[in-house]
Amino acid sequence: MAYVNGAIRRVPASQFPQMLGDWRVGDGLLARRLANAVEKAVRDGRLPLGVQLPAERLLASELGLARGTVAASYQLLRAEHLIVTRTGSGSSVSLPPRLDDRLAPWAGDRGEAGKNGAPLDLTIAEPAAPCNELLQSMREVTDSLLATLLNDPGEGDYPSTLRTAIADAYEAQGLPTRDGCLLLTSGADSALALLSAAYLRASSRVVLDSPTYPGALAVFRSAGARLVSQPLTPTGWDIPALDRTLRTVRPSLTYLVADFHNPTGLLMGEEERAELRSRLRHHDTLVVFDETMRDLDLREDAVPPSRVAESAGDRHVVYVGSLSKSLWPGLRVGWIRAHPDIVRRLAALPIAAALAPSPLDRLVAARLLERQEAVLDRRRAQLRFQRNHLAARLSAFPWCRFQVPQGGLSLWLELLHAESRQLANLAATHKLALTPGFHFSPDGALDGYLRIPFTLPPEALDTAVDRLTEAYAALEGSG
Ligand SMILES: Cc1ncc(COP(=O)(O)O)c(C=O)c1O
Repeated sequence: MAYVNGAIRRVPASQFPQMLGDWRVGDGLLARRLANAVEKAVRDGRLPLGVQLPAERLLASELGLARGTVAASYQLLRAEHLIVTRTGSGSSVSLPPRLDDRLAPWAGDRGEAGKNGAPLDLTIAEPAAPCNELLQSMREVTDSLLATLLNDPGEGDYPSTLRTAIADAYEAQGLPTRDGCLLLTSGADSALALLSAAYLRASSRVVLDSPTYPGALAVFRSAGARLVSQPLTPTGWDIPALDRTLRTVRPSLTYLVADFHNPTGLLMGEEERAELRSRLRHHDTLVVFDETMRDLDLREDAVPPSRVAESAGDRHVVYVGSLSKSLWPGLRVGWIRAHPDIVRRLAALPIAAALAPSPLDRLVAARLLERQEAVLDRRRAQLRFQRNHLAARLSAFPWCRFQVPQGGLSLWLELLHAESRQLANLAATHKLALTPGFHFSPDGALDGYLRIPFTLPPEALDTAVDRLTEAYAALEGSG
């Protein structure tokens, strides 16, 4: 730990020779070699984030170097953002942007998947942990944990800060969200599971986009619901067609991902939203808008999309949200924003407690939310870059087409002459794991499509595209 009882920990100069090991071996200037050794110690976890490095003079004497060499080495580390130096408090270890936000291991147990030698995995469209901000948030939680536990009012609502922050964000976007409109859940999937438990019975009908998020398909299927596809058009939602489907099918629940839809990245236009708003008044279905991707808006300087329900009194519209894509899926924090009657009904379900986020996740999430804008600014810039990189590579292929999405985490690739199931099978033999299109289809269709996430750094995307090209050539060769 970099902090002991709230105080910053220093690494004594005397520990450096042992910690850095045989750092002098190799080529280049001594200052460069020392900087490389420090970077390696940070990567290996021998030098934890936040610890303070010894003063230049002390380290120079300990390592038998001229002070100027250590100063030059610290200067290199500063330029690479591996240390930050503050007047009066010395230099401490930080994570540079190129190491931060990497594809950190996901917190869920994926069994044996992801072990060494496993293929390059493009089946997961998830952001990595924002390491620096996450660590800072966790430290703050640790430092104040005793006070939090002692001061808990006993209502089981470990500080309501998180709920308030989420409610404030809705209010700031014009949707009143007070007094019982919010229920916290352990992620958006848990929110969908709760809604499904409350509103679906075997054979209940659910209308949803096709393609759509596979997790939602799994939840609704496991409730025994009958799924009815509403196909998306290449540009988005055909609201009159959706209206007709709702009139004919009369579903118990309608599930829509209107903001940077998974897997297509599509965004419902403002005109469509207005039309949907007016048409929904005539239907008696619970419409669930899954806003998990809402913050991954990759348009420059854009205003957030409007919401279909604009009053707190709407009993037909439910919003599901999550911190998984904007911050980190390892924190299991999501929510349902709905009319208080709906929230009461959901909260009363016996399964509600098991689907609530843990108090520790809530405490960390509340702190992390204070840093969300910085994380999101960085993340959006990185995703824009990676999206453009992947699009540029894929646009060279005559055998597929796609639209560059305005947000989200993936490209939805249409294969012009091949089946995605076959291509994904071949890609696996070229060490590339892909999700074929049928996973996203309520009816098992869409075999002409592949989802390609752009969550990996450009070098990994290049390797993925190279392997995809090899797999496609093998497919053509076999046909
Ligand atoms: C549209 C959508 N909803 C929900 C989820 C799952 O979110 P969570 O991790 O909060 O359960 C995902 C994850 O990919 C998603 O794309």
